[in-house]
Amino acid sequence: MTGSNRSETLVRDPDADIFQCTLPIDRGVLISGAAPGSENDIHTNAAFSEKWAKLEQEPEDEENWKTFQFSWYLSCYGYDTEADLSAFLVTRRVVLDAGCGPGYKAAWFARMNPNATVVAMDLSDSIYIAAERYGSLPNMRFVKGDIANTPFLTGAFDFISCDQVLHHTDDPPATIREFARILSDQGQLNTYVYAKKSLPRELLDEHLREYAKQLSREQIWELADQLTQLGKTLSELNISLDLPNVPALGIKGGRQDLQRFIYWNFIKCFWNPEHGFEASKLINFDWYAPSNAYRYSLQEFTKLMSEAGFISEFLHSEEACHTGRFHK
Ligand SMILES: C[S@@+](CC[C@H](N)C(=O)[O-])C[C@H]1O[C@@H](n2cnc3c(N)ncnc32)[C@H](O)[C@@H]1O
Repeated sequence: MTGSNRSETLVRDPDADIFQCTLPIDRGVLISGAAPGSENDIHTNAAFSEKWAKLEQEPEDEENWKTFQFSWYLSCYGYDTEADLSAFLVTRRVVLDAGCGPGYKAAWFARMNPNATVVAMDLSDSIYIAAERYGSLPNMRFVKGDIANTPFLTGAFDFISCDQVLHHTDDPPATIREFARILSDQGQLNTYVYAKKSLPRELLDEHLREYAKQLSREQIWELADQLTQLGKTLSELNISLDLPNVPALGIKGGRQDLQRFIYWNFIKCFWNPEHGFEASKLINFDWYAPSNAYRYSLQEFTKLMSEAGFISEFLHSEEACHTGRFHK
């Protein structure tokens, strides 16, 4: 058949206005760039691939985890109810969940607005869990790669959610600059960073994180297990203390539970009975296993964002984190 008499139907690529180029695909996942490059990226990939695979093995803990995460997301980003988030999402056309882990928040967004295309992206193998679980949602895409160096067109997204991820990237300012590039002028970015804690906790964390770099994965799991046991035991003592402020060390006084006092001021020994043991352990693992875990004061967070040209329309701070909704 020659070109002149061939009957052709031109089908428009529905994602042509999202991706800069065509990407290789593996098990439903588009592969962006080379495998993780820097030592930190390799470490992050290994730590989170393991974390998400472990959570998958504990279905009950995972369900509790998701319920907690959804309601925490609403409170961190200033949505009174899920209906408020949904009302916002239906105004969006192309959404990115940057650092999606196993993809449950991306799927949440995709279900709230079936007319939007929702791209879930992560550096770790958790993206394969996401694709396997949510690949049947017709409006979802899955990309494995670095959110600081994406394959997306300039201005491709009108909503980017980067929840609990930025501080794990190699170079958070570079990641934010990439978001500024791929977000449209009318777009919104929701993002989160770890907050700085009291001085003794910061100093101990620095040392422990360096120490953890020399440990095997098994030893880090063992550390996480023992920290969880410590948190559980302290919490079950059910002791409250009246304590003075120690402003020189950034320690807040007042009436406090013993476990929470030690947790916020000295060592991460997370325990929440609603999460269960394995999910609590993951949170302790999550803290010491990835090599990047930058922490910020509120002022440092707003500076980081404004230097990339972002303006906040909502800010929220709690002991664990600073979060905000931003536009350009
Ligand atoms: C604490 S988890 C948060 C996952 C999810 N956003 C949530 O809220 O449950 C951090 C995730 O960020 C991913 N991540 C870290 N650095 C990344 C990078 N440079 N590019 C893409 N994903 C990254 C990790 O692999 C991990 O799945």
